Parts: sequence; C-alpha cells; structure tokens
Amino acid sequence: MNSLKEKIERCRQFFSELAPQVKDAQGVEELRQQFFSRKKGHLTLLFEEFKTLSPEEKKAYGRELNELKAEIQNRLTELEQKFQEKASERLIDDLTLPGRKLYWGAAHPITLFQREIERIFISMGFSVEEGPEIETDYYNFEALNFPPHHPARDSWDTLYINDKLLLRTHTSPVQIRVMEKKKPPIRIIIPGKVFRRETPDPTHLPMFYQVEGLVVDRGITFAHLKGTLEYFIKALFGEKIRLRFRPSFFPFTEPSAEVDIECIVCGGQDPACRVCGGSGWKEILGAGMVDPQVFKNVSIDPEIYSGWAFGLGIDRTAMFAFQIPEIRQFYENDLRFLRQFNRR
Ligand code: DAH
Repeated sequence: MNSLKEKIERCRQFFSELAPQVKDAQGVEELRQQFFSRKKGHLTLLFEEFKTLSPEEKKAYGRELNELKAEIQNRLTELEQKFQEKASERLIDDLTLPGRKLYWGAAHPITLFQREIERIFISMGFSVEEGPEIETDYYNFEALNFPPHHPARDSWDTLYINDKLLLRTHTSPVQIRVMEKKKPPIRIIIPGKVFRRETPDPTHLPMFYQVEGLVVDRGITFAHLKGTLEYFIKALFGEKIRLRFRPSFFPFTEPSAEVDIECIVCGGQDPACRVCGGSGWKEILGAGMVDPQVFKNVSIDPEIYSGWAFGLGIDRTAMFAFQIPEIRQFYENDLRFLRQFNRR
C-alpha cells in the first residue's frame, strides 16, 4: 500500500508550496490550522489513516509521518518568530505611535482625608498612635467605664471572636493602651478602622474609620477642647464654618458633648437636604473631659491631671467634605469614583 507514502509526500509538497506565501502572523495561524486542525487538518487526517494500518505498515510509515510532522511544526515556529520580530521592529520604528500608558496607583480618598487630619494635628504638636483592631472586652469597654451589662454597650454592638475578644467598636480603647504606657503630658491622635453591627445604608457600614484625640496634662479644661476642635475644623473646612457643642453622654467622659458642623451642602436652607435632613447641622464627633474613673483605671491621679478626648468619624466627615451622599461608594472600588480624588 503505497498510497500513504504518496500522501505523505504530497502533503510535504503542498506545505512547502504554501509556506512561502504566508505574509503575516495571522497567515501562520491559518496555515497551522490547515494542517493541524482537529477534524480536517491534512496531517491530522494522515494520522487518522495511519491508525487503521496493520502493525507492519505502521512500522514502515510511522517514522516518515512523524518526521513530516516535526518538519512542519519547526517551519511554522520559524515563521511565527519571523513575523513577531517584524511586528516589534515596526513598533520601534514608528515614532508616531502613542506611548504605552502606565497605570499609577493612588491613595484611597479616605486615606487622603486621614492624612489631611493627621497633618493638622501634627502641626499642633500631636503625635499619631495606633492600636489593635481585635480588642479585649477590657480595653473596648470596661476600662472605658462601661461595666458588663451596662445599657450603653447596646449601641456599640459588634462581632465577638469569643467571650473576651471582639472587633473594636471605636478607637477609644487605644486611649487606655497609651495611658498605661505613657504618663502625661499626652497629646495624641489615633486613626484606625472600627466595627459595628450595622446594616449597610447610605450613611452606615459595619466597618468605618475613626480618629480619636486625647490630651492629658495639668490644668487642661473644656476651653482647650473647644479651642482645639474649632481650630481643627476650620483648618479642614475653612474659616467660615460654624460648629456647635451639644450636651451628650459617654461613659468615659464627664461632661460629654457631641459636635455638629453647619451643613455645607444646604447651609440649613433645604428642608429636604439629603445630608443634614433639613436641620442645617451634621454631627461629626463625640467628645468630653476624661472621666476621673478612666484615669484611675490607668493609674493617673485625677486630682493632679485632667484631660479631654474626642472621637471623629473619618468617613462621614469625608462624605461631607467631598459632598458624597453615599458612604458605600468609598468601598465599591469603582475606579471612576476613586480616580476623582487622585491628586497626581
Ligand atoms: N468612642 C465614641 C464613639 O465611637 C466617640 C467618642 C466620644 C470618643 C467621646 C471620645 C470621646 O474620645 O471623648 O461613638
């Protein structure tokens, strides 16, 4: 049976006629398909036929067939390389082609805003501290004067890892950690992630950022707290912004206050304002004079020292500053949103 031998020869012939006609990488691919495609490739069909031969015939033609296959494959690879090189030569030659666009990463808007806050406090002589996101019940609650079962814990519900460990609900526990280690004078801020049991909506997420402030020294009064916060908020929002202190309650401060800033979106003029709900004010932080019990818990004598503290929501203040009505946009990783804050 000479026919397979002939076919092998014809196939070789055919390939050597076609190969020189190929003009580009696509042509090489087409040629490869013509010979190797799974159903109709010329070589594939020869191999199909080969399978039906008797063992002796297989011996006779096997080598030839495999040689042909190798020859064709080698030639195809050569052709492929040739056209690839040509393509890159063309790229180098063509100086009118646009440059390759490099992707630059950039800081997240919350990070940018946090840095701005840090910058203002550092300029007032504060230093920046950090603490763990997984906290003990002691630091998150007890040392801050929330006894077990105290109803004030209800609004700080969180994920518990076990009976003693939880995801911190505020940055306040770091006040305790710092006061255990350092003695007054203390002037620090503590930025970081905090966690609450919240259902996501336009202004709530189960994870968000806070920055805590703490000042402890001899003779510190509420006037220092007011002066510092006023300076800070004006540095952040401009001289014209108004703020107000409202009496409030926190177990770890006495007296306590919440601070609102004037709604810069509607200026109090729009009863349907999406940001302030028409009140004209927006709460951004809690603050107060450090409770003497908290000082006792860290062995600082409240007869000698006094201090103030505050805790500010970074995300919600950033929403306000950037006029973003939806907190979730910060975390959806939509580059069209995030790139608006890129200051490069
Ligand atoms: N930790 C409080 C919260 O998460 C905020 C706060 C209020 C912090 C008063 C303070 C403070 O340091 O003095 O809602």
